[in-house]
Formats: sequence, structure tokens, C-alpha cells
Amino acid sequence: MPFDAGVVAEVQAKSDLLAYVSQYVTLKRQGREYVGLCPFHSEKTPSFYLNAEKQVWHCHGCNAGGDLIKFVERYENVDFPTALRMLATRAGIILEESPGAQRRRSEREAVYEANAVAQAFFADHLRRDKKALDYVHRRGVVDETAALFGIGYAPDGWEGLAKALERSGVDLALAERAGLVRQKTGHYDFFRNRLMLPIYNLTGEVMAFGGRALGDETPKYLNTPNTVAYTKGAHVYALNLARKAAAADDTLIVVEGYLDAIALHQAGFKNAVASLGTSFTPEQARELRRVANKLYLCFDGDAAGQAATARSIDMLVDEGLAVSIVALPAGTDPDEFIMDNGRDAFAALINRAQRWVDFKIELACRRISSTFSSKSDIAREAMTVIAQVRDPIERDQYIKAMARRLDVSEAALRQTRVLPFNRQTARPADAPAIRRAPATAQPVSAERDALQLVLARPELLAEALATILPDDFEDVELRGVFERLREHARDLERGVNPLTVFADDPLVAELTRMALASPPLPLEDDERRLALIAQRFERRRDERRLSSIDEEINRLINSDRSVPQTLRDEYNALAASLRGPAGEHNRKEG
Ligand code: CTP
Ligand code: MN
Repeated sequence: MPFDAGVVAEVQAKSDLLAYVSQYVTLKRQGREYVGLCPFHSEKTPSFYLNAEKQVWHCHGCNAGGDLIKFVERYENVDFPTALRMLATRAGIILEESPGAQRRRSEREAVYEANAVAQAFFADHLRRDKKALDYVHRRGVVDETAALFGIGYAPDGWEGLAKALERSGVDLALAERAGLVRQKTGHYDFFRNRLMLPIYNLTGEVMAFGGRALGDETPKYLNTPNTVAYTKGAHVYALNLARKAAAADDTLIVVEGYLDAIALHQAGFKNAVASLGTSFTPEQARELRRVANKLYLCFDGDAAGQAATARSIDMLVDEGLAVSIVALPAGTDPDEFIMDNGRDAFAALINRAQRWVDFKIELACRRISSTFSSKSDIAREAMTVIAQVRDPIERDQYIKAMARRLDVSEAALRQTRVLPFNRQTARPADAPAIRRAPATAQPVSAERDALQLVLARPELLAEALATILPDDFEDVELRGVFERLREHARDLERGVNPLTVFADDPLVAELTRMALASPPLPLEDDERRLALIAQRFERRRDERRLSSIDEEINRLINSDRSVPQTLRDEYNALAASLRGPAGEHNRKEG
């Protein structure tokens, strides 16, 4: 959380979910909960549930859910700090920032101001320069679109901008830190004779510029270096413009280039953004996810574009985004495609987009015919892809389809061991690629119960942390949730809603459902439930230890070595304690 937990807790204490949501959703009381039509998807029968006591909402229809801050984020389409700020303002709380944060913020704001002066200067010069204006028109961009994107032109002199900045009272040392001018003997303009494309943030300030050469000069694009207001690779172009349109069906179209995004907007695809480079970063993925959960990746139809697509998929999927791939004819980019074929043809491409798994399986399959890789290599690769599919029914369908394509038996495919994921998130490197199937339904239900209890009753967290270990969770995701709770124990103690901690987590919907599902019981009953769960975990720990000692003893015996007495003693002690009350009925021998 970027903010002080105390502040979050105060904002949450002074805000009310029911009052806030009621402004936008007509809610009817139903038992302990309130029900209404979900504002995040269209529906005729209400599936939006709100629990005022727990300050939690959840929609069974679209699976959205969370705390009040999450509601504001979703409803207003803003990020966490903005949502918090909005709620704080309503509640009359002044958000304080550390002096360091204040300085960074004011430096950043000064850079925004310098960039705004520069943007106006460039836009003015575009209107006056026939050569530049001709270039824009030749690229198929009409004046209205150019204005919408704030496009400009940096004239060919050395100090036109420097002078304009000075006239507007911008400190040139600051302009240098903003990447607008350079210094040798005096300050000179960084961008010269280039088409200027401002990169805006979500609130409409200019963070940086991309400058395209009008001819074949190199580099083709000259971009603002890293500044306090802009980090290369962390932002997405045109997100400010795409945000509204994206909200309609929760979808963004992602292209590579500035002019691709511009061409798409002009053709009516107003939810298009550009990645501004070849591969995606996790920061960019998170920026996108603030605005939409579904992506159409439409990278250039060349080898580099295809490679970038393949590289980007895992990371985007990992960030919880639903990704589909739009295939462009070889050698074209979206800009050229639209120019040559028109908007309907592009819409048709979008309609034919492939889900990312199909795309990756296709790639893996194509490799069979084009390389000498053995079938078992291909099968392993395909199974690695398939293992990422969470839905077991869907996974099954893919296995069947793969078996047909590769002309191997389904059984052989199912037996193929898969490589662990190459995940960038904090997942243990040795985590199994397919979630380990629990031996019985029980273990995972105990794991869920434990989390459900703590989510609904954060005051029991300390006790849970004292009696349950992360390793007690066999389910990798549930273990991750427990670890997150542990990291944020102090924030939660101060009254922060547990769901706030998971605001960016792909699991948040499941967690809210868990929190809502817990039946309201008196505190003592919940304490007792927790104690029972902890006992079950302890027992499982003993069972695991017992089976590992068992293996160890077998190994020693098989290799003709003696078994140390300490190991025998530990085995006997564990076996005896496990044979206690709970193990009574499945005891094999006396
Ligand atoms: N890019 C860059 N620097 C370069 C080349 C490319 O920053 N020297 C980034 C730009 O954001 C560019 C994107 O990568 O928009 C895609 O590059 P490319 O396909 O080469 O350019 P286009 O966007 O197609 O530009 P144009 O249509 O004007 O040729
Ligand atoms: Mn292009």
C-alpha cells in the first residue's frame, strides 16, 4: 500500500460502504445483506451483494468484489491512491505526505507544467509549418485527431523551445531535468524537426514526448529520457483517452506504435492504447489492469511483433489479464492495415482474435513441422502451456485437441511431466505447475476455512499467525494469501480492511466471496473454529513428517545402512500421537 495504514484505517472508519454504494445502486435489504443490480455489468436480476457489517461487496454475476476503496476504483475507474484521496476528501480527512514525497510531487508537478508549455509550443508550430502538417495528413491523420492527441511539431532551430520556456517562466535547469533541453554552453532544444507526440497520464498531464523523424533520419523515434514524471517502459500511450471506452466492455486493444493507436482511435476503436516498444513490462500490465481486464494484443505482423507477443503473454496472464491475440497479415502494422483495408476489416480481425492459449498451442504445434524436436519435447511444451489453464474442463478440452494435433495418445500427453511456470510474481520457484490435487477434499477446505475466518474476522489474525504456518497450505494460491495477510498483520491490527491488502490481487473476487460466505457466529465460536483448524494443520504437519521419516528409513534399509535410533524414536513418537483420537478408526494395526 502506498499510503500509511493508519490513514487507510481512518478513511475506512469514517466512510460507509452502504451509504456510498447507495448513491449509485438501488439496494434492497435481504436478510443480513443488501442486494441490487450490479453497476459493473448489465443484468436484469440482481446479483450484487453488499454486507454493511463486513464492509464488503461482491457480484455473483461478474465476480467483481472488494472493499469500499475497490468499489470507488472500479466505479470511478481510478487507481488506489486516487480512490483513497476521493474518500478522504469526502470524509474531511487531509492526507499527509512525507516531506520526501511532497518534494517529489512538486518536482513532478513542475515537470508537468514545463511539458504543458512545450506541448502548446509544439502544437502551435504544427499549425504553422506546412511541411509538418503535410506529413501528418500524409499519414492519414485528420486535424481533429491531431488535436485530440495533442500532436505538435518541434521546429528545426536550436533554441525555439528554450526561449519559449524562458518566456513562460520555466526554469531551464528544470526543463533540462524534464528532458526538454540540453546544456552545452547554453541550453538548446532536445527535439528538433520532429513530429511531437505527447504521452499523457491518466489525469491528462503530459509526462513525456515521443518525437518522430519526418523522413528517414535516425533514430526514427526520439523519446524523453527517464524523468521524475516518466519511466521508460512503465507507461502506456493513449490510456487517458481509451479509459472511458474501455470501461464499456472492460476491454483494451493494445498495439505497438504511437501511430497505430492514433489510427485506431480515428477509425472508431477508441479503446486502443500503445505499448511503445516491443515487450511488455509488469508495470505496464498493471496500468492496463487498472482500466480493463481484457486485452486484444495486436502487435505487428512481423517476426519481431510475433516474438514480442509470445514474450508478453505469460506476464500479462500472470497479472490476471484475459488476453486474446489479433493476427495481422505478415509485414503490416495496424496503422497500415486500417489505411489499406478500412475499419470493418479491422473489426473482422478483432472478431477472429485467438485466445492466448490457442495462440500458444498453435505456436507449439507449428514447431513440430518446422523443427526436428521430438514429439515428447513438443508434448512437454504444449502441456506447460495447458497447465496454465485454470479451468479443469477447458484444460481437458485442450489436452484432447493437442493429442489429435500431435498424433499422440491422450494418455501419453496426460502423463507428460510439465516444467514449472516461469512466473514473475512471488511464487516459489519450485511450485508445481499444476496445483497439487489434494488427497481428499478436506485439506483445501481447511485451508479455505482458515482464510475465510481471518478475512471475516481480522481480530483473529494474530492467533492464526501464532498457530498456522505458511507451509501448512498445500494450495499455492491460498498459501500466497496467507503470506500476504502475515506481511500486513500490523496494518490489519490498525483496522485496515483485509480486502484492501488484496486490492490488486487477481484472487480478490474469490476472497470477497469467501469473506461474505462466512456465517456470522459469536466471537467465541470463531475462536473455537480457529483452534480446530489449527489442530488439523498440526496433524497434517505430523503426517507429512511421518511420511518423510518413513521414506528416509526405507532408503536407509534399501541401501543396507543402519537406521539411527533417534529416527526410530521420532517415528514411534509421531506414529503414537497420530494414532490418538482422530486417527482411531483408520488405524491398521494395534
Ligand atoms: N520505437 C522507439 N524508438 C525507435 C523505434 C520504435 O521508441 N527507434 C517505439 C515507438 O513507440 C514506436 C514503436 O516502438 O511507435 C513501434 O515501432 P515501429 O513499428 O518501428 O514504428 P511505428 O509505430 O510503426 O511508426 P511509423 O508507423 O511512424 O513507422
Ligand atoms: Mn507504422
